[in-house]
Amino acid sequence: MKVVAIVGSIRKDSYNLQLAKHVQKRYASQFDLEILDLSTLPMYNQDIELDAPKEVLDFKAKVKDADAVLWVTPEYNSTIPGVLGNAIDWLSRVDKVMNGKPSIIMGSSMGILGSVKAQMHLRDILFASGLNSPLLPMNEVYVGAVHEKFDAEGNLTDESTIDFLDAVISNFQEWMKQYV
Ligand code: FNR
Repeated sequence: MKVVAIVGSIRKDSYNLQLAKHVQKRYASQFDLEILDLSTLPMYNQDIELDAPKEVLDFKAKVKDADAVLWVTPEYNSTIPGVLGNAIDWLSRVDKVMNGKPSIIMGSSMGILGSVKAQMHLRDILFASGLNSPLLPMNEVYVGAVHEKFDAEGNLTDESTIDFLDAVISNFQEWMKQYV
């Protein structure tokens, strides 16, 4: 199974990137996870969507080629960050590569709510509002106080989060059997 991760923070030391890297490493024997780079995507502009830059075409080709997408998002101002909205705008137009493609959502923040509002919005955008991406039901991953759960080297050290993610990924793989 091939999965791509779309991370809503382009910050070098992003906790959400560290979370994606944890999934990539810990479940490497179970599926291949490629973390996509959103930092090179230009701002979406309808004037150029039919002649989109190479970075956009490469990004969309990778999403199209994947069996599923893992979204890992911080919360900015009670919603999804602009870089994530920008990526979604590109994905939603012309070649609609998310149509029917399954998604799993995770996210973290330094506050206790762990990006819950951003994830609620993301769920709505991905499924209810038009991208038509089936979402892993039930398994909601809100990693709050994230700065206390990773060490200085970027390793997830919080045992209960590690165990919880094991259960979620197991459910994800079971759920994915209907798609691959
Ligand atoms: C934040 N942060 C934040 N946290 C939160 O729980 N709810 C929020 O609405 C916001 N809003 C917000 C806006 C902006 C512009 C920034 C820069 C930050 C804090 C955020 O959770 C924290 O910076 C995370 O560490 C960002 O994720 P990464 O970059 O570590 O992945």
